[in-house]
Amino acid sequence: MCGIVGAAAKRDIVPVLVEGLRRLEYRGYDSCGVAVQINNTLQRVRTVSRVADLDTQIQTHAIHADTGIAHTRWATHGAPSTRNAHPMLSREQIALVHNGIIENHDALRVRLQALGYVFESQTDTEVIAHLVHSLYAGDLFSAVAAAVKQLEGAYAIAVVARDQPQCVVGARAGSPLVIGVGLHEHFIASDALALAGTTNQIAYLDEGDVAEILPDQFRVQNAHGDAVVRTVQTVRVDESGAALGPYRHYMQKEIFEQPRALADTLEGIESPAPELFGEQAPAYFARVKQVLVLACGTSYYAGLVAAQWLETLAKIPTRVEIASEYRYRESVPDPDTLVVVISQSGETADTLAALRHARSLGQTITLAICNVASSAMVRETQLRFLTRAGAEIGVASTKAFTTQLAALFLLALSLAKVRNTLPEQTIVAQMRHLRHLPRAVSAVLALEPQLMAWAARFATRQHALFLGRGLHYPIALEGALKLKEISYIHAEAYPAGELKHGPLALVTDAMPVVTVAPNDALLEKVRSNMAEVRARGGELYVLTDAHTQVLTEEGVHVVRLAAHYGLLSPVLHVVALQLLAYHTAVTLGHDVDKPRNLAKSVTVE
Ligand code: F6R
Repeated sequence: MCGIVGAAAKRDIVPVLVEGLRRLEYRGYDSCGVAVQINNTLQRVRTVSRVADLDTQIQTHAIHADTGIAHTRWATHGAPSTRNAHPMLSREQIALVHNGIIENHDALRVRLQALGYVFESQTDTEVIAHLVHSLYAGDLFSAVAAAVKQLEGAYAIAVVARDQPQCVVGARAGSPLVIGVGLHEHFIASDALALAGTTNQIAYLDEGDVAEILPDQFRVQNAHGDAVVRTVQTVRVDESGAALGPYRHYMQKEIFEQPRALADTLEGIESPAPELFGEQAPAYFARVKQVLVLACGTSYYAGLVAAQWLETLAKIPTRVEIASEYRYRESVPDPDTLVVVISQSGETADTLAALRHARSLGQTITLAICNVASSAMVRETQLRFLTRAGAEIGVASTKAFTTQLAALFLLALSLAKVRNTLPEQTIVAQMRHLRHLPRAVSAVLALEPQLMAWAARFATRQHALFLGRGLHYPIALEGALKLKEISYIHAEAYPAGELKHGPLALVTDAMPVVTVAPNDALLEKVRSNMAEVRARGGELYVLTDAHTQVLTEEGVHVVRLAAHYGLLSPVLHVVALQLLAYHTAVTLGHDVDKPRNLAKSVTVE
């Protein structure tokens, strides 16, 4: 969501801070700011504009410093405004940036006001700045360590003090924070990506850690106050992901990267095998009796597709739950459950909390399907499969989704193998299909001009309905989510069979109805549902495959994919819906990569 960068060095680090913010900006872009320590003063620049504007202001004021912190914000407490932008200052002596949400901020504010602190923002962050100030007596590290003991909620913070040159202190609980190691310089960031190009030597802080960085060293104290060593690792930060190349938006680039992302994810995998998911997977897969999938948003829809694959191929009962619901409801745990968390970022607060909740109930066989190797989810699960989508910058998830699907299909086939539910030749045939996916997706991408033509019509509408059945109902859900999040057109998805149980009342000639109608066993049922729409004057936009009897006619627009792709058909149909959403948003002139009110990686509840 928000992003943090900090540095303590023996050179001008302002360009590093700005570049770090640029790399993190896609995560939160309501406002941004920097605070640097220069000649025993703190200088701050903030803007509700983008990082480019911040950079211009910094250049105008010719700000150079060897110590500082910076932040890009996604608003939780307090509207997006300069006043609420980080860094927050306390009495011009402490500057602080924060990711996360402090739950006891009201009580702390009352106490600090009684001590005479004046609040200028509506944020929970300002509370931490004043709290650190109230505890500061010349040693920032001790002040921060004492302050975080009083915080309830989630935080990653970075702090500088006017009177302590070349020193930045950070702390984390519930939100990620890393330390970057350079030559006579150290950095702190909410993600190693922020430091790409500066250092790939990264130490990951643990829950409850407090760290101090100086140019020549760093030290860490754990939640119990003990000095600890956090190992410095060489990480591969995908810098290429940050370059836009010939594309107009990251979302477009990421849609078109899908053949490559799928090929990378499947590289070197000849046949399904439990070992692909970790050393202990063969033993666990032989033991598990059911699967519980936990995820949010688009990743949840990947789970809905996977549930059908798991039951069809591996004959294993599968439940899929929205993480934010599961974590707070009473459920009936079973230790022989394979708990699968699906997440692009691996840091989504609700999914992480749901994983921990599942474990606390004794369900300890856990698997992460994730795109970020260093993420909390990958660290906290026993088994893992890393999708190799590369950095996903566009807020609307695209290549992460299709690579998750590829991974989940492999999971279904691997479990089928262990459970002996499929003949070997079926597994071989399905695997061949899976490996052919990159080429099949390329063929769908070639349909872009037809989807642009649809988009031109959609851009004039206020609402849209998406229909699908079976494996393609989650794809209808995903298509509707993509459209609403970047074009702001109200879109809903239904299983086509549900139409007559209510949503049909919405159908008029002003309601475009997108129908995902592949050439599968449910096609005739879907055709009946389409007839119901046409009978009410609804305009149909049908995604179908070659050789179906769905024909273009008055009020019926058809885009045809190549031959039906069997169980993997959802991976192809969703690509067409991504293109529809993308071009609709572009036609409407929206900021596709940074849709309003949203952020990448929802690391707060
Ligand atoms: C929608 C989208 C979100 C994410 C959701 C989960 O395009 O990107 O719905 O899918 O916030 O994020 P991850 O997968 O990082 O856990």
